[in-house]
Amino acid sequence: MLFKQQALLRQKLFVLGSLAIGSLLYLVARVGSLDRLQPLCPIDGRFGPRSQDEIPVRALQFKRGLLHEFRKGNATKEQIRLHNLVQQLPKAIIIGVRKGGTRALLEMLNLHPAVVKASQEIHFFDNDENYAKGIEWYRKKMPFSYPHQITIEKSPAYFITEEVPERIYKMNSSIKLLIIVREPTTRAISDYTQVLEGKERKNKTYYKFEKLAIDPNTCEVNTKYKAVRTSIYTKHLERWLKYFPIEQFHIVDGDRLITEPLPELQLVEKFLNLPPRISQYNLYFNATRGFYCLRFNIVFNKCLAGSKGRIHPEVDTSVITKLRKFFHPFNQKFYQITGRTFNWP
Ligand code: A3P
Repeated sequence: MLFKQQALLRQKLFVLGSLAIGSLLYLVARVGSLDRLQPLCPIDGRFGPRSQDEIPVRALQFKRGLLHEFRKGNATKEQIRLHNLVQQLPKAIIIGVRKGGTRALLEMLNLHPAVVKASQEIHFFDNDENYAKGIEWYRKKMPFSYPHQITIEKSPAYFITEEVPERIYKMNSSIKLLIIVREPTTRAISDYTQVLEGKERKNKTYYKFEKLAIDPNTCEVNTKYKAVRTSIYTKHLERWLKYFPIEQFHIVDGDRLITEPLPELQLVEKFLNLPPRISQYNLYFNATRGFYCLRFNIVFNKCLAGSKGRIHPEVDTSVITKLRKFFHPFNQKFYQITGRTFNWP
């Protein structure tokens, strides 16, 4: 009798325990997706008049999967019409800087339910052949989105290419421009590391960074070396300022995006007049990767590809010192123009 009662009690406890675990799992899942399912706040008029109807919660729920299918070209015309999806020109562009963290910034902004990224670098404004294909070609390269969302693309070559500011201005003179920068010498070494890896992949040899960055005849910094030139941020920015006022730019601290991404992303949300939607929940530090990774919801998370976050080769400290001294006055000017100061040496 006693044995039967104990068995019954155990059974009851098991059922209760299962219920509790089930509810807990449900709650975790809800909290995970809640942030992404909240209806959007109105987006400021700077992005054009917003339609009266809010995006339905259900539509947001399907957003990722659906837009993904459409991006793969699996959508029928009927589906596109049914969901009122459009391919929109970007309202904001990440124009650079190469190796500043442009991919991380784009992917992290894409966590925002009102943002849809163009996955590939389009290279429309910096590539004459593409540019000659016209603005409709460019628009057709954009992902499908709901009309109230904004499209963002990134092509880091835009920042340093002569013709680009005028071309973008002709498309949209009030566009928002994002520039992500890192300490210039680190950025130059990162740039070098990427090229070096490409050479090694093709079994080619390559010069040491020191040899490229320092002119062997003068022993001064080699300003003809592209990785050095790209890090003279102020020179490039000055060209852009001939077309756009400084208020249309937002400078992102690429070094801080690595160590503490959320506050940087919150500044961008503000700049883009987006309601704050990216939260700490969306970003988690992955110790194996050594970087923050992205969490869309309880089931979908991802880290950036292994090509982001390479180990840099060791560089002679005297060369680093020389480069830092060289960049110093340009950095001061950059702080002055942008109103954002960094702790660069
Ligand atoms: P390194 O490879 O030098 O570390 P870009 O996307 O513009 O090419 O920039 C690449 C840089 O993004 C990487 O440079 C890396 O440091 C930085 N980065 C910033 N956040 C990152 C993240 N969450 N995961 C991986 N790389 C990140």
